[in-house]
Amino acid sequence: MTSLAETPIAADSVGLLEGIASTRAIRRYLDEPLPPEALRDILFAATRAPSGSNRQPFRFVVLEDSPKAREAKALIGQSARKFWELKRANDQYDKGSGADPNSPKSRMARTMQHYVDSFDTAPCLILPCLVRYREPTPSEGASVYPAVQNLLLAARGLGYGGVITGFHGPVENELKALLGIPEDVFITCTLTLGKPAGKHGPVRRRPMTELVFGDTWEEAPAWAVDPPGTRHTSAGPPKSVKVI
Ligand SMILES: Cc1cc2nc3c(=O)[nH]c(=O)nc-3n(C[C@H](O)[C@H](O)[C@H](O)COP(=O)(O)O)c2cc1C
Repeated sequence: MTSLAETPIAADSVGLLEGIASTRAIRRYLDEPLPPEALRDILFAATRAPSGSNRQPFRFVVLEDSPKAREAKALIGQSARKFWELKRANDQYDKGSGADPNSPKSRMARTMQHYVDSFDTAPCLILPCLVRYREPTPSEGASVYPAVQNLLLAARGLGYGGVITGFHGPVENELKALLGIPEDVFITCTLTLGKPAGKHGPVRRRPMTELVFGDTWEEAPAWAVDPPGTRHTSAGPPKSVKVI
């Protein structure tokens, strides 16, 4: 068998710009582990990300199927189920349009329920961490999140998908003890990864005119026009803008 050190990075199946526009949060996975070569390529992409002064404070704890990995998944899974139970009730996911099983709201609730219920068996769990070299600052995450997005984009390019969550928060201390993560290391997020059970589709965002401005706030330049076929969402606070 050829060693991975002699194996070039895989040819990806999607162009970079198309990949960016279709890297959605993937919360349903086939029951298949990620092969080592895919993990190598995905984590290689993550570790090639930029960071302030090229300090590379990011570290990735990759949990597959070892006993410790299963324990970590179970810990975070438990926290995810508690979080979702509260959110489902507080945000009234089962009321209003949520009562209609075909509404986007109730589809989202089903997806989230399935996600948290099967968290413990997610094919791969990654904890992107930040090694602190100074007192925490509000912008410290900025040296980790480009790497996290590289990771998701590389996964997309190879036919995998994932989602970022904050479900590790309530069990951070237990995770650190289990995985030998030093006290001063910040676990920035939780990321599950696997082969999507469904298809990747286009991301839905607000139109560019609401998000890109010229020399005056909320005035979009004439070129800030979404390409044909762009899918939109009204998620987020409403905006009104003028096009100049
Ligand atoms: C910083 C950040 C935190 C997120 N936290 C969660 C989370 O706790 N739970 C979750 O299910 N999704 C989480 N997501 C995924 C977003 O909900 C998702 O990316 C967003 O709704 C857009 O959907 P899309 O990626 O499918 O286009 C998070 C994403 C980001 C970037």
